[in-house]
Amino acid sequence: MPNLSESPVVLITGAARRIGACLAKRLHECGFRIIVHYHHSLNEANSLCEELNNRRHDSAWAVNANMTDIASVEALASASISHWGRLDALINNASSFYRTPLPDANKQQWGELIGSNLQGPFFLCQAVSEELIMRRGAIINITDIHAHQPLARHSIYCIAKAGNTMLTRTMAKELAPHVRVNGIAPGVILWPENICAENTEKIKNNSLPAIPLKRMGTPEDIALLAEFLITDASYITGQIITVDGGKHLIF
Ligand SMILES: NC(=O)c1ccc[n+]([C@@H]2O[C@H](COP(=O)([O-])OP(=O)(O)OC[C@H]3O[C@@H](n4cnc5c(N)ncnc54)[C@H](OP(=O)(O)O)[C@@H]3O)[C@@H](O)[C@H]2O)c1
Repeated sequence: MPNLSESPVVLITGAARRIGACLAKRLHECGFRIIVHYHHSLNEANSLCEELNNRRHDSAWAVNANMTDIASVEALASASISHWGRLDALINNASSFYRTPLPDANKQQWGELIGSNLQGPFFLCQAVSEELIMRRGAIINITDIHAHQPLARHSIYCIAKAGNTMLTRTMAKELAPHVRVNGIAPGVILWPENICAENTEKIKNNSLPAIPLKRMGTPEDIALLAEFLITDASYITGQIITVDGGKHLIF
């Protein structure tokens, strides 16, 4: 019988739903205890934890934080480290995403998009760095293919993800040789929820035929790579790996 108190612990931000929940389930299957960070999705976070705890006793725990608020991010870090007395890996997955056409872009959007995609991940890396150094841990930042290729009318999000890419590379250098830091840049995986069905259909019809592999990716594609980067990739750091069905080839 494995000693559960020795199981490694991963903190996944924005883990209650969608890609984050898939990351949580995959790493849980690999034997990790999961800290499910959420912001508004309390019910989803609780049911995910219940599902994981039913599979393995005391293996998942939900914690709330607003990634745009530095004090909240720091509290998230210390609660995560103290909950099971260790932290071995961090996945910065939480993100807000919406259009910010230049004429209407404002400070509140800047604060939210930069806060969740860049500032929050930076201060979370800082706050867990000592623990991860001690554990010889790993960090993964979930970025976006649009960190390099601008998405029209989404400049603030693209700027934030571009910063997130450099965050990954600078942290990889600064935290070496103890902590490996890598990024995953998804292409089209799940459609955003804040657009109407008609627009989703339009985007689908325009974008899917142009993807060399002719389909969307799946959250599992992201989760499998995250598993590899955390558990097996002992000589990989400072890399951003694109998972986009070849979309970057046709920009
Ligand atoms: N979906 C795609 O096809 C795609 C494509 C490229 C890149 N990505 C990247 O992949 C990651 C996951 O994508 P996704 O579509 O699954 O993400 P998502 O559903 O849009 O967002 C993930 C979670 O982020 C959390 N979040 C947002 N703002 C927050 C804040 N201020 N503080 C704390 N948490 C906050 C939300 O938590 P609550 O629900 O608890 O409020 C949300 O559930 C993101 O980093 C995204 O940029 C996704």
